Amino acid sequence: MTDADFEYLRALLKSRSGLSLAPEKRYLVESRLGPVCRKHQIPGLPQLVQVLRGGRNSSVETEVVEAMTTNETFFFRDKTPFDIFRDQLLPKLAAARATQKRLRIWCAAASTGQEPYSLAMIVDEMKPRLGGVQVDILATDLADEVLAKAKAGVYSQFEVQRGLPIQMLLKHFKQDGEQWRISPAIKNMVQFRPLNLIRDFSSLGQFDIVFCRNVLIYFDQPTKADVLRRLSNALAADGALFLGAAETVIGLTGAFQPHPEHRGLYVPTRAQPAPAPRLAASA
Ligand SMILES: C[S@@+](CC[C@H](N)C(=O)[O-])C[C@H]1O[C@@H](n2cnc3c(N)ncnc32)[C@H](O)[C@@H]1O
Repeated sequence: MTDADFEYLRALLKSRSGLSLAPEKRYLVESRLGPVCRKHQIPGLPQLVQVLRGGRNSSVETEVVEAMTTNETFFFRDKTPFDIFRDQLLPKLAAARATQKRLRIWCAAASTGQEPYSLAMIVDEMKPRLGGVQVDILATDLADEVLAKAKAGVYSQFEVQRGLPIQMLLKHFKQDGEQWRISPAIKNMVQFRPLNLIRDFSSLGQFDIVFCRNVLIYFDQPTKADVLRRLSNALAADGALFLGAAETVIGLTGAFQPHPEHRGLYVPTRAQPAPAPRLAASA
């Protein structure tokens, strides 16, 4: 692959998914796009770039973009955000929405579904304490392939062994040969949709809690800042945003401030006379 081919791919990925690919990540292009070449019987990366430049095969282009995404995820990843969600945010916001009787949660880079299903299992457990407030969970991702797996709700033994407590496995999954199938009750609590975060998402309306974890890390600074600004518009004034452990709003936007006690949790600045208020004590 020539430097010009690599630059072409970098520009394509940046414009299609926001992925900011450093020059030293050239090896990643080679390892991830090899299978796309083989699938389409394209001899190598220079020829693949030729096909892309020709612009006549949009499905190959989509596959290239999806192949370059990192889809790593697991149930209850990092644990603490889910504890805060269950013990503090959910009861607090359900009480605040006692009149509207509705709470909206958005899982904005849901990958293969473990994150939104973790939230759904918590909501199911908390239902008796939510005062009849209906909780809607929207899960979106750029990549169709991971969304299809998320919608199917079928996981391998390895996947259910990562982060999922055994009681939850036994309660909410059914074994099906080598696989584990999530119950229809939990599956139906989550609505899955394709969505590209670098495009306008204002039509989704307003959410109370947004999980947008481990995706901003792949974007450059202006793209991160732009997504965060638009996320702040999509969040209720008393809502909350969770980012991944390696992500932050600091130096990117004044629209959010870090919660003083909980790493990874951010609150909209417009609602908060500084410093941000303490959340209610754990239930
Ligand atoms: C590393 S996974 C994170 C999954 C989950 N949030 C977690 O933390 O476990 C990143 C996900 O972001 C998705 N993604 C990448 N670029 C995106 C974009 N521009 N819009 C929406 N999703 C994107 C990828 O397809 C991938 O599934």
